[in-house]
Amino acid sequence: MKIDADAHDAIPVTLAAARAEFDAAVTYLDTATFGLPPRRSWAALQQALAQWRAGTADAVAYDLPLAAARSSYARLAGVDPSVVAVGSQVSVFAGLIAANLPGGSEVLTATGDFTSILFPFYAQSGRGIRVREVPLDRIADCVTSRTTLVAVSAVQSADGRVADLDALHAASRATGARVLLDTTQAVGWLPVDASRFAYTACGGYKWLLSPRGTAYFTINPTLIDDLTPHYAGWYAGEDRWSSIYG
Ligand SMILES: Cc1ncc(COP(=O)(O)O)c(C=O)c1O
Repeated sequence: MKIDADAHDAIPVTLAAARAEFDAAVTYLDTATFGLPPRRSWAALQQALAQWRAGTADAVAYDLPLAAARSSYARLAGVDPSVVAVGSQVSVFAGLIAANLPGGSEVLTATGDFTSILFPFYAQSGRGIRVREVPLDRIADCVTSRTTLVAVSAVQSADGRVADLDALHAASRATGARVLLDTTQAVGWLPVDASRFAYTACGGYKWLLSPRGTAYFTINPTLIDDLTPHYAGWYAGEDRWSSIYG
């Protein structure tokens, strides 16, 4: 698989070039459910599948497209790639943040938000995590000094309502509450500055036009040392190909 981490910088983006990347058989208006693959992503995927099938896939070579995706996401989210984690699902990242909350924490959420950003917090009720659901349009006003975390989608999956991100950022600064922003229905079409929030999580298979099983997470660099990496695996090694064992 030959993918240059910075190759996309050289590709001129015009409407015609963008249109030529897509091959839908219908008039497609459902990117909020799943985005269609651009031609070059499709070609790269076919090449990877063919190599896998033929027994010629090179596990180390997977690092390059992964690093390229991480850098692209960092650019879209306005952060440095070093604060971007790659993963498979938003709910896993939300679960990581939920598991890191001190017992007794209050988590403020929006009524009717997507369950991947709600269930992980309800799942921690046995540790005394309390979820307080409020209407989306009042969420920033409802943040208090007793709020440990606000977990909310930038854009609602159910109906496209956009959260007031400036108000959320201001409320977080005023009270010290951290924000976990789900950017799944936003990044790709709505400019989002992830550096303004403690954590953000984004599924890749909608507006980022990727296959299922791709997700990104950003963390404010000052919070990295606070986070227990509950599901650290071999890919978390400092020099991953020499620290696989032991
Ligand atoms: C706002 C939002 N977050 C997350 C997801 C996907 O969640 P997960 O990655 O846990 O499957 C979706 C899918 O519809 C979504 O709309």
